[in-house]
Amino acid sequence: MGMATRVPFVCAATTSPNHCNKYCGVPPSLPLPVSSYSLRLPSLSFSSSLGLLLPLKNKESGTERRVGERFGVVAMADSNKSTVLVTGAGGRTGQIVYKKLKERPNQYVARGLVRTEESKQNIGAADDVYVGDIRDAGSIVSAIQDIDALIILTSAVPQMKPGFDPTKGQRPEFYFEDGAFPEQVDWIGQKNQIDAAKAAGVKHIVLVGSMGGTNLNHPLNSLGNGNILVWKRKAEQYLADSDIPYTIIRAGGLQDKDGGLRELIVGKDDELLQTETRTITRADVAEVCIQALNFKEAKFKAFDLASKPEGAGSATKDFKALFSQVTTRF
Ligand SMILES: NC(=O)c1ccc[n+]([C@@H]2O[C@H](COP(=O)([O-])OP(=O)(O)OC[C@H]3O[C@@H](n4cnc5c(N)ncnc54)[C@H](OP(=O)(O)O)[C@@H]3O)[C@@H](O)[C@H]2O)c1
Repeated sequence: MGMATRVPFVCAATTSPNHCNKYCGVPPSLPLPVSSYSLRLPSLSFSSSLGLLLPLKNKESGTERRVGERFGVVAMADSNKSTVLVTGAGGRTGQIVYKKLKERPNQYVARGLVRTEESKQNIGAADDVYVGDIRDAGSIVSAIQDIDALIILTSAVPQMKPGFDPTKGQRPEFYFEDGAFPEQVDWIGQKNQIDAAKAAGVKHIVLVGSMGGTNLNHPLNSLGNGNILVWKRKAEQYLADSDIPYTIIRAGGLQDKDGGLRELIVGKDDELLQTETRTITRADVAEVCIQALNFKEAKFKAFDLASKPEGAGSATKDFKALFSQVTTRF
């Protein structure tokens, strides 16, 4: 949309002596908790993904299923269902979105896109899971064909350099694999998805990004020398300029806890990073992704998303009201 505010695209400086070409030290303090920021430890990532395959204890999901069973006779015709593809469906938030979509069969026909056969197996290997690499535009066309909405949850994932020993008081170092830097995944890969969605006439794209993107010198940009927030921001701008109805969700630090228990907070321009409320559960982000499909108040909007701690405030149930608070298009 022409009304979206354009931000200048300038690469964050990466030439400081503290930055090496491939391996890069973790900055001393990160406004988003580095422990949860998509960092993948070779030995831990697999088990953390598996953890999400356990049945969710999400109360809202349970309610949804019971309502569907009780009113099965008035279930919507197939033509009224929305076919929704979630990419990064093997990822930690993507898995939750995929599962939530499958739990609402009266509303959605779920599809997932994963990068590998192994990820497909991890999330149940159903026929609605496509395997493709977002860096290869041709490999994602069939997954995007005939969908109504696209939820983008792909992201470059920094890998921890082997040999880190926390008992020695060291700081871990991170790198991106060749060809899997944020420029290739968070920019080219997201752009490929947006282009394919536009060609397929997709009616709504939800893109999950990250808070911190207004600060070119944000410490996360030096992680693995990848400028990750810069490339994510560039993809967000591309989406906002695409004319496709969009919702850009810039999440705070992600936590693996139950969702539906906290009051959600929306913000803009990273203002929440100056407060104590700058984290959110992956389950809550997943729910907001899906709810965004249901309300026109979520369209053509971009916002920061965090939550109050559990017990402070009341758990968000009214998503229309939440999206109505958002006034920013970018
Ligand atoms: N972690 C945080 O604290 C934090 C904070 C704010 C925002 N965010 C953002 O929130 C989003 C979700 O985070 P998350 O931690 O749930 O994600 P995640 O677990 O890191 O998942 C990322 C997914 O992207 C997939 N992917 C990577 N390269 C791909 C490619 N070339 N083709 C297809 N798929 C590819 C990965 O597949 P493989 O598993 O096969 O590699 C993985 O499933 C991300 O955009 C992240 O940057 C994170």
